Amino acid sequence: MKKIAFGICGLGRIGQVHLRHFSKAGEQYELAALCDIDAERARTISTQHGCAGYTAYSEFLRHPGLELVIIANRSLDHARSAEEALVAGRTVLLEKPIGVTVADHALLRDLVARFPGRLFFCHNHRFEPAFANMMAIMASGILGRVHVVKLCKHHGFLRRDDWQMRLDCGGGQLSVWGPHLLDQGLQFLGSPVRRVDSHLRRILTPGDADDHVRILLAGEDGPLVEIEIGNAMAEIGPYCTLIGDRGMLTCNQEQTQLRLRYLDPGFAWGEAVASAGTPGLDYWSSFAAPLPWVEEDRPVTPAVNMWEYVEEAMVGHLHAALRGGVPFPVTSAQALEVVRITELVKRQNPQFAWLS
Ligand SMILES: NC(=O)c1ccc[n+]([C@@H]2O[C@H](COP(=O)([O-])OP(=O)(O)OC[C@H]3O[C@@H](n4cnc5c(N)ncnc54)[C@H](O)[C@@H]3O)[C@@H](O)[C@H]2O)c1
Repeated sequence: MKKIAFGICGLGRIGQVHLRHFSKAGEQYELAALCDIDAERARTISTQHGCAGYTAYSEFLRHPGLELVIIANRSLDHARSAEEALVAGRTVLLEKPIGVTVADHALLRDLVARFPGRLFFCHNHRFEPAFANMMAIMASGILGRVHVVKLCKHHGFLRRDDWQMRLDCGGGQLSVWGPHLLDQGLQFLGSPVRRVDSHLRRILTPGDADDHVRILLAGEDGPLVEIEIGNAMAEIGPYCTLIGDRGMLTCNQEQTQLRLRYLDPGFAWGEAVASAGTPGLDYWSSFAAPLPWVEEDRPVTPAVNMWEYVEEAMVGHLHAALRGGVPFPVTSAQALEVVRITELVKRQNPQFAWLS
């Protein structure tokens, strides 16, 4: 089977991670060319990898045989870079945030319609093992009906000061971790979003962007989803908590361990009604009878480095989509829904000078 000739635009922190992982899958992909606006960086890295290096994106896109373009430049360029590559006849894997402005989002909707099957979205944290484990446990029913899902990406007192903390560069945690947590949150929700409530703050960063994000998603059905992304967390809480009517699950921030406490599946509550009368003086003693709790600590499986795993999974899924016709797990509709919610959150938080 013909290998997928790939190129990467943007050889920064994440571009180099993609370069390592796509290059490692040498049976499926072959490196064709690299591009970075920084000439020194483009030359050094392309020389190391023995491929063509470009500083001009339009020339890079004309590289002979280039099939897949991975766009990992700055967020503000994403949507337009995707358009240019698609118009040049290339297939695109587009980093998140897939767009920043309302105009970007309109362009993305248009590109999805104009180039079916050629635009893929890098919501790679969909492939986290802990997320898959938790979705499976929720579906198994041992927690009963899950009413609340809390997803928290906590960073320990991170006084981040790069371009990702500047609004004029398209930064802010809503754009940095927001797409990943919204993507997972929508999967947990599993039903159309009915209401979005959000509060964003700037707590610690010397930049002007949001470094604390709270979003509450309510669907037509499914659990309430609470999202919290915090850079100013002096104490780190669990990554995820599921609250069901038969038990609860927590997953640690490192995503290595799940803790479950749920009612024995054989247990059934007796009939009960809530009384309108005045409770007896011994009211609380009726709660003294122990409940048949099952308590479990389950390691997240597979036990892997999550950061490496999400990349490997994405590399594999993309190959299956491009060569095997297997649908890519992150659909365009799902990515565009993340974008729609992000726009709503921005409108709910006009204290930030969002780029329009
Ligand atoms: N999916 C993920 O897990 C993940 C992780 C980190 C970053 N990201 C996203 O990837 C993007 C890049 O983030 P980063 O942390 O690597 O940034 P970075 O600043 O470290 O790297 C960006 C690179 O792009 C180059 N560049 C800038 N403008 C360019 C242009 N017009 N043409 C070609 N090259 C250009 C820069 O010189 C730099 O090498 C951001 O949008 C970020 O949100 C995604």
